[in-house]
Amino acid sequence: MQTVGKLMKVFLTRRIPPEGMKILSAAGVCEVSLWDSDEPVPRAELLRGVQGAHGLLCLLSDKIDAEVLDAAGPNLKVISTLSVGFDHLALEEIKKRGIRVGYTPDVLTDATAELTVALLLATARRLPEGVEEVKNGGWSSWKPLWLCGYGLSGSTVGIIGLGRIGMAIAQRLMPFGVKRLLYSGRTAKAHAAKVNGEFVPLDTLVSESDFLVVSCSLTPETQGLCDKAFFSKMKNTAVLVNSSRGAVVNQEDLYEALTSGQIAAAGLDVTTPEPLPTNHPLLTLKNCVVLPHIGSATYSTRGIMAALSAKNLLGGLQGADMPSELTF
Ligand code: NDP
Ligand code: DGY
Repeated sequence: MQTVGKLMKVFLTRRIPPEGMKILSAAGVCEVSLWDSDEPVPRAELLRGVQGAHGLLCLLSDKIDAEVLDAAGPNLKVISTLSVGFDHLALEEIKKRGIRVGYTPDVLTDATAELTVALLLATARRLPEGVEEVKNGGWSSWKPLWLCGYGLSGSTVGIIGLGRIGMAIAQRLMPFGVKRLLYSGRTAKAHAAKVNGEFVPLDTLVSESDFLVVSCSLTPETQGLCDKAFFSKMKNTAVLVNSSRGAVVNQEDLYEALTSGQIAAAGLDVTTPEPLPTNHPLLTLKNCVVLPHIGSATYSTRGIMAALSAKNLLGGLQGADMPSELTF
């Protein structure tokens, strides 16, 4: 608990939406210092800023490992990440030190699912190419086979990871007339019944799906899951969409699959690294649509995420309940 009259020190690794800042200042229990920028905190500044902190509010772009925890020292009791993904946190090291972790599940599910559907449609129906052709004069007339793509009606959709976001994606896709909804993961999900989801082995999902949506968390098991062997089992008319983490996809193998005609197209909201260098080979391909990790980017969602991460931070600082505490 806070000692009377003494403010606890917290470090924020970025400017966050005002909804979060207001909650922190209204609480009156902490002294906030932050990396006052929209760009990531340089590592040296992170290591300096965190020194002596009781609480750390970080983003998915900050790698929180033993070095950061050592730099923080023994005061650190809570890490609150402004994300639902927590693959940037060294959980074993964090656990060893008895530090609590807050994250932002649920509040970004709708926004991320919506963006994933938008990306799927944009990729499958070749929207960026079409927009470009209108602008560059490539639109000469209505042509029967020009800019044709793939439709959802009557299709089989495979979702890798039918968690909160995967399920919300499935619920949004079904009304397009999807015929079969397959999913894979570690365990079958009771909630899959709502979308008539069939729990199948990954190989079945990969070979039978017309649209493959990756919405699992990044773990040692899912890292590089979509590789050469994976693409070789996909239909050559199939479309891959990834809105989880870039490292689930082997990008060299994806490039090969897209250029050789092994698969039809890919839509990526997440890449390795982020940002993807502007000279990256994937960006030369018409059948690859890359977005800058904007799954949760609606004004209201980001405001709610900021508020939740501030409340998580305060709960951890005060030894109280956190609205969304990660159990690990
Ligand atoms: P959940 O924990 O609800 O879902 C994660 C899913 O991943 C679970 O269903 C889990 O299945 C599945 N999974 C874990 N291991 C495997 C595996 N080996 N094979 C297949 N599936 C697996 O998390 P959310 O749905 O809330 O978020 C999912 C991820 O989306 C986040 O971790 C984050 O990386 C990403 N994300 C990206 C955003 C963006 O802006 N693009 C926005 C928000 C999140 P099981 O339960 O069976 O283990
Ligand atoms: C997350 O929360 O994990 C996303 O990647 C960003 O909202």
